[in-house]
Amino acid sequence: MFKKSDPPQVESLSENQREMFHIDELKRRQEEHIFYTWTAQNQASPLPISRGEGAFFFDHEGQRWFDFESQVFNCNLGHQDQRVIQAIQDQAQRLSCAHPAAVYESKAQLGELLNEVSPGDISKFFLCLSGAEAIENAYKVARMITGRQKVIARRRSYHGASMGALSLTGDARRLPFEPGLWGVIRAEDPYCYRCPFGLALESCSMQCASQIEHIIEMEGPENIAAIFAEGVTGSNGGFIPPQAYWPKLREICDRYGILLVADEVFSGFGRTGEWFAVDHWGVTPDMITMAKGVTSGYAPLGVLGVRGELAARFDDEVLWCGLTSYAHPISCAAAVATIQAYKEDDLINNSKHLGDQLGEVLASWNSESWYGDSRCLGLFGTLELADQCDDDQLSSLKEALRSHRVHILLKGRMLFITPPLCISAAELNEGLEIIYQCLLTTC
Ligand SMILES: Cc1ncc(COP(=O)(O)O)c(C=O)c1O
Repeated sequence: MFKKSDPPQVESLSENQREMFHIDELKRRQEEHIFYTWTAQNQASPLPISRGEGAFFFDHEGQRWFDFESQVFNCNLGHQDQRVIQAIQDQAQRLSCAHPAAVYESKAQLGELLNEVSPGDISKFFLCLSGAEAIENAYKVARMITGRQKVIARRRSYHGASMGALSLTGDARRLPFEPGLWGVIRAEDPYCYRCPFGLALESCSMQCASQIEHIIEMEGPENIAAIFAEGVTGSNGGFIPPQAYWPKLREICDRYGILLVADEVFSGFGRTGEWFAVDHWGVTPDMITMAKGVTSGYAPLGVLGVRGELAARFDDEVLWCGLTSYAHPISCAAAVATIQAYKEDDLINNSKHLGDQLGEVLASWNSESWYGDSRCLGLFGTLELADQCDDDQLSSLKEALRSHRVHILLKGRMLFITPPLCISAAELNEGLEIIYQCLLTTC
């Protein structure tokens, strides 16, 4: 907007112009030295965020945006929750830096809370800084426990951006880094709308799960350490597996002594209307990875949860895992306050009930020409657009959503509707109506 050589007389600008100057200048300064992620730098879409409040954030001109992506699927609690902010401030004041072996209240309390909300007998936790790290450690622990080297992961999956997690990842983000880890074998997904086996749900006999058993037999069960699967597939499609899918995975793993790892980085902490997606099917995995919603993005934290019986192995054997910022005090304090706030405000149930409403609205669009499929579990809705929507229409839709100030992920033909769990029914409807109008005018 302004050239460096031509400094504006800031005092002579209106308040709005001053904000615009401020954000343009801020963006210029930031872009000079800081990368954007997953994009060519010249094609980035900077997000104009100046402050947040509940299910919304505000740009530098004071305009309100619907946060239908909960930032990056992590701000489940909503923006600027004072309970979490206070807990972070208190912790920072008391103890901001601690050795991994240090003993302090927020660390102990977080262990107790994670034990309370985790499925079944998942009772011991390793505390790192991201979802990818939780996955890396799950992979290492699976190998240490079983002594086996291969793992099974699904084709349309994302497990994180570090080399190990990318190697497990099935989606295209792994491609520039191949070959990755040795021994990752890929299985098809429970993607019922476009069944990879061309079958219909009513008569498919869950070929997607049977295929996993077939792979195990062909590879030799004695070589397979673990199966990694997202509770509900996140950013690759929001696939909700058939009712019997997770119990079947559990049964297969039990039969062959293979560890079952649920990646709940995306689907955990109420996103699907239960603490964890696997709770919908009453399944206890052997390990569970968490991040995102555990602190609602207020501080970085990744968690690997392990069943007590398996964890006991490391009572006498060395756990070859660690990091400098293990169980960072500020992250622990943020997680404790976040989990308490989910409980206090009954947000897991809010997600469940509003999810029913979200699912009904999405399904009611089914007569539109652009409607392909919709899937919804809790406040995790996916609208899959019909094949007829071409690239021009998809770019116009993206543009329209942005110009109506809806922060939302449209990836290919999949539109992910994942607002903070504190959103009200009226706010959800208001946002959905805007999305609907954008669809009508562009697709
Ligand atoms: C299912 C899943 N696993 C792992 C990750 C990686 O988490 P992080 O970005 O915190 O490393 C993500 C991130 O989007 C995810 O969706």
